[in-house]
Amino acid sequence: MARIPKELVDHIIQTADIVEVVGDFVQLKRKGQNLWAPCPFHNEKSPSFSVNPAKSLYKCFGCGKAGGVVQFVMDVEGTSYVEALKYLAKKYAIEIQEEEKTPQQQLEQNERDSQFIVSDFAKNHYHRLLLNSEEGMSIGYGYLKERGLTLNTIQTFELGYSLDAWDDLMKAAETAGFDKKYLEKTGLTVIRTDDQGKDTGRRYDRFRGRVMFPIHNISGRVVGFGARTLKRDDKMAKYLNSPESEIYHKSDVLYGLFQARQAIRTQEVCYLVEGYLDVLSLYQGGIKNVVASSGTSLTEGQIRLIKRYSDNVTVLYDGDAAGIKASLRGTDLLLEGGLNVRVVLFPDGDDPDSYIRKVGDQRFTEYIETKSQDFITFKTTLVAREASGDPVKKAEAIRDVLHSIAKVPDAIKRQVFLQQTSATFGIDEQVLITEYNKLVKSPSQQTKHSGGSGDNLGNYGQGAGSANAGYPPSANPRSAPAPRPMSDEEEAEMLMYGGAEAAESLGTSFQSTTKAAENEPLPDMLQLCEREVLRLLVLYAGREIDPEVSVAGYLMGQLGEYPLTVPLYAEMWEICRQELLAGRFPDARQLAQNEREDIRQLITDLATERYEISPNWRTKEIYVFNEVDLPQLACDNAVLRLNKVHVQRELDQCLEKLRHPLDDAEMFEILGDIKRLKELDNELAALLGTVVARGA
Ligand code: CTP
Ligand code: MN
Repeated sequence: MARIPKELVDHIIQTADIVEVVGDFVQLKRKGQNLWAPCPFHNEKSPSFSVNPAKSLYKCFGCGKAGGVVQFVMDVEGTSYVEALKYLAKKYAIEIQEEEKTPQQQLEQNERDSQFIVSDFAKNHYHRLLLNSEEGMSIGYGYLKERGLTLNTIQTFELGYSLDAWDDLMKAAETAGFDKKYLEKTGLTVIRTDDQGKDTGRRYDRFRGRVMFPIHNISGRVVGFGARTLKRDDKMAKYLNSPESEIYHKSDVLYGLFQARQAIRTQEVCYLVEGYLDVLSLYQGGIKNVVASSGTSLTEGQIRLIKRYSDNVTVLYDGDAAGIKASLRGTDLLLEGGLNVRVVLFPDGDDPDSYIRKVGDQRFTEYIETKSQDFITFKTTLVAREASGDPVKKAEAIRDVLHSIAKVPDAIKRQVFLQQTSATFGIDEQVLITEYNKLVKSPSQQTKHSGGSGDNLGNYGQGAGSANAGYPPSANPRSAPAPRPMSDEEEAEMLMYGGAEAAESLGTSFQSTTKAAENEPLPDMLQLCEREVLRLLVLYAGREIDPEVSVAGYLMGQLGEYPLTVPLYAEMWEICRQELLAGRFPDARQLAQNEREDIRQLITDLATERYEISPNWRTKEIYVFNEVDLPQLACDNAVLRLNKVHVQRELDQCLEKLRHPLDDAEMFEILGDIKRLKELDNELAALLGTVVARGA
């Protein structure tokens, strides 16, 4: 794909009017400085979605989605950054020069276009036959009606019927003037070969006497077909599908996604089912956020597709053993993709289609809402039940669950799952963590994740310790030397009874993971104070404190002693510092278009949030600074508060140390530290008091 030059990107962003762009999707109404509308990203009645034309930003106070004009297009259309730029360029008639196509590339483009067109022709042909031909109406339409589908659903999904004949489609396509090679390339016709596999020159229609389910890509173009036979013939495959082609890559398509994508976004969850009919029945019952994997196991491409619209997937599978196995199989990949996965099982013998027909839309919806289980919980309970009473099996089951947990990219979620697993199996959490660390460091696990997209398990961009998914993330416990490898039974016993005693009795020095300071969840106050300093930096960088000093220069100078601890904030700080070094002030508007999503998100959050933390956490009063007029006061306040939080933390650490046995010298040293810190704390409090007094 052609790269769009930086200048052109800037030009597009500057030309695009966010009010116009957003206005294409929702009805904006002016209220004060901003314009408001019901959010296009989630379900709501009263508008909490706002557009700030001056800053060229949007933000929903309900769901938190926010960003610049490019981000908006990405969010609403589910496209990539480059595609969003192209969309805007098109809207504003800005020409993007693509690299010249070679004749070969031009030819390939034409080939693909022809295949799209012939697929569309076939879809229309089958659809017409279903509704207008005698055979189609009696056999095809009759069948779909019997399965409870309405005409409306049939039309929404453009279902069709193929006549029970060898050459009906071929003849129709020929009459319409299509080159038959495109029918072959899309697999609509089959090339008859002889025993040696040589082309006999004879052709026949692939789909005959079947109900046709066109498969759309996300722009709604037909790329292939699923086709169900209506004959009760065991020798015949129930479903026949189009083969892979230049336009149909099975691993990048999900059945129903084209029709479901808006609903997936507003409902904030994607239901994943197995079959075509499951999609159709649920959609018809008002559950429109549903897609099918079409009976095969999920691919990474399909997971990326879902992720464009939602981070939440609920897998709806049959309640029989095969269904359960299938839901276990596909889900590790979903977890790896960073999705929140839930599972619903249906009563044995039912699939989503049969169940919704049995109980009705209302009860079906209630069922999935009440019966859905978090995947890890589901898996844990399942394997725990299977393994109960058998220590060796149980140890295996635990390792199995730990494997799944290791796939979760989010460190905090992993931690919650570990706690939960420890409760379900009745195993000491420390023991579980130790086992987990062993597992993620074992070579087999590492090779599985090396290569390609890099380490899925790392704490993205969290600085130290991001190279492995060990828990705690950065503690890196030294491995204790094991005198001899444990047998399975011994290991099982250790997992079961946990603790140092079991290990000691086995002659193994038990490795306990020390709690690393970096790993403790940061106290909220520290995060908030760091964020506030960063916010002032990003929003008011170039503003003068006095004729010599800018806000950016002032903050950089003030913050020497305590660097920011939140990794993303620290990175942001560094980006701003680099800008200053290059002689520019960091500019929120430009940073909001940064290529990295987390940075864009942070900037737009900072720029749009109404930040009101209490400057004095003993009283709960809220002071709102007039930061626009008094930037120095705002900066002083933020920096002093940040310093105070740090001092408070150091004090806490000293007090903690006093609880442990110490010799006299150590004791005196700590008491000295405490005295010094207390003084500092008082000083900061006094200064903060004066800042507040000046600002109020
Ligand atoms: N499938 C397939 N080829 C087959 C069987 C199944 O491609 N020979 C796919 C289809 O996408 C099908 C899904 O797997 O929708 C689920 O299969 P199954 O449960 O057997 O079919 P149902 O969807 O339940 O179909 P029906 O209710 O019409 O029997
Ligand atoms: Mn079925």
